[in-house]
Amino acid sequence: MGDAQTVVDIRGLATVFGKGDAAFTVHDDLQLAVQRGEILSLVGGSGTGKTVLLRHILGLTRPTRGSVTVLGRPATELGGDGASSRVGMLFQQGALFSAFSVLDNIAFALRELGTLPPVLVRDAAMVKLRLVGLKPEHATRMPADLSGGMIKRVALARALIMDPPLLLLDEPTAGLDPNSSDEFCALLRELHAALGLTVIMVTHDLDTLYDLSTRVAVLADRRVITSGPPRQVAQFEHPFIHHFFLGERGRRAMAQPPAAAAPTQEA
Ligand SMILES: Nc1ncnc2c1ncn2[C@@H]1O[C@H](COP(=O)(O)OP(=O)(O)O)[C@@H](O)[C@H]1O
Ligand SMILES: [Mg+2]
Repeated sequence: MGDAQTVVDIRGLATVFGKGDAAFTVHDDLQLAVQRGEILSLVGGSGTGKTVLLRHILGLTRPTRGSVTVLGRPATELGGDGASSRVGMLFQQGALFSAFSVLDNIAFALRELGTLPPVLVRDAAMVKLRLVGLKPEHATRMPADLSGGMIKRVALARALIMDPPLLLLDEPTAGLDPNSSDEFCALLRELHAALGLTVIMVTHDLDTLYDLSTRVAVLADRRVITSGPPRQVAQFEHPFIHHFFLGERGRRAMAQPPAAAAPTQEA
């Protein structure tokens, strides 16, 4: 079960989809423990099972073998949908209901629960709206009228509506421009400190990773091959790690204007 500080404890996890000849192993004997207060970045190649791992923690996918324990109880007891009182989840895509206003999106899980009168649900959602740096006048906006950065903020408020101690984020800064991405990282850092959150975040973005992570875990060869502080993990000998840390650096270096070349072109 792990001690009281262990928020997520994954032991001997195997995930196999399909049966017989079509059986496909995503995770095999995967171990990962996450302690209270960590901001753990999960990195790995496309299709290595990062999102499936978050789904295990949410209790949406059942282990083929092994165990996934969240706050001392099997994750599958959570029945998580991304906004439970134990785990909040910011999904990679389709985070918002397009037919609902900002406030109704944030309030959704609390309203579904049906234990609070509507006026209190509304108040709670307004508190979360402000918590993520939005203004009261944004409450009635529809998702189609929001910028990418604002959509992420609303999705974050929605994930936090039940005050969960654990927050899962699937590529939270993907698709944001560098400025919005920096703002979102600053917001996450503030909320992590203010609310005492434990955060597990899938990211491909090296800036986000260095900016926020207290630890990085690398998913490759169907398990967590190494974890540690970002600069330590970057030294680990593995083709994916080499490609990820050097490859992206290389791409960013390429994006810098050449020292002596054609005049700068405005985008
Ligand atoms: N419910 C499912 N049934 C069958 N295969 C799945 C299911 N969910 C995910 N997969 C497969 O598992 C692998 C890992 O998926 P995913 O966790 O989404 O990868 P990523 O690391 O890119 O997030 C992929 O090959 C995906 O197609
Ligand atoms: Mg994914």
